[in-house]
Amino acid sequence: MKDILTAPWLVELVRTCTNMYAHGWDERNGGNISVLLDAADVAAYLDCKAVLRTLPTGFSAPALDGKYFLVTGTGKYFKNVQYDPAVNLGIVRLADGGQTAQLLWGFTDGGKFTSEFPAHMMSHAARLSVDPENRVVMHCHPNNLLAMTYVHDLDEKTFTRTLWQMETECIVVFPEGVNVLPWMVCGTNEIGQATAEKMKTARLVVWAQHGIYGAGRDLDETFGLIETAEKAAAVYLKIAHLPWKQTITVADLHQLEERFGVKARPGWLD
Ligand code: 13P
Ligand code: ZN
Repeated sequence: MKDILTAPWLVELVRTCTNMYAHGWDERNGGNISVLLDAADVAAYLDCKAVLRTLPTGFSAPALDGKYFLVTGTGKYFKNVQYDPAVNLGIVRLADGGQTAQLLWGFTDGGKFTSEFPAHMMSHAARLSVDPENRVVMHCHPNNLLAMTYVHDLDEKTFTRTLWQMETECIVVFPEGVNVLPWMVCGTNEIGQATAEKMKTARLVVWAQHGIYGAGRDLDETFGLIETAEKAAAVYLKIAHLPWKQTITVADLHQLEERFGVKARPGWLD
């Protein structure tokens, strides 16, 4: 059996948590990440028959039954993940149609998976239904996107159009746009279901006055999505109160579609 602390997917998650903390996206215990793992990848490092604890999830997710996830712990600080991965992270296998999570590694202080587990698991199921390669769901509290949800219209099309116009690369990176949820109580099955519904049409879902969810095939893609949207939000907040002399026009956005072979969400450039 190989040493799990050397598993490339675990090392990459630790580095990502450290990087997200450095970006200021994850104050205190803010933010959480889950990564779908292959059974064979886990079996190279762990005895998958050795279940340490069985944790109720409070929801069902039949599509994820038997699947393995590396996930951050509730109340854990991203800044500390690098110093003690086994306390701050866990590997679980969903069972009983998703109603329980079997802990195979981690949460060594008796902890458990993030309070946003419903939003993570339901989002995985939703993303896998539209992209079988999706592996990552990431949540954090980036300053500028968060601030933007106080002063910008929350209509998804309008919100997306503003982001697309704040930086040329945006429409290339997230042509499907961003979806937006109004403020809701976090950590509930309700916000999980609402997030998952929004995840069927976009990899980015803004939680008004809270933060953002991203999804992607790997940690780089998902981090990069949030990074790009957050940069655009930062530009918006720098210029929103100033008189604009020019912007990226809808005609310009159409030119970008053509040049980069991407298609904006149907109707969102009308
Ligand atoms: P957890 O510590 O339970 O992961 O919660 C952090 C958070 O960002 C809640 O939305
Ligand atoms: Zn949060």
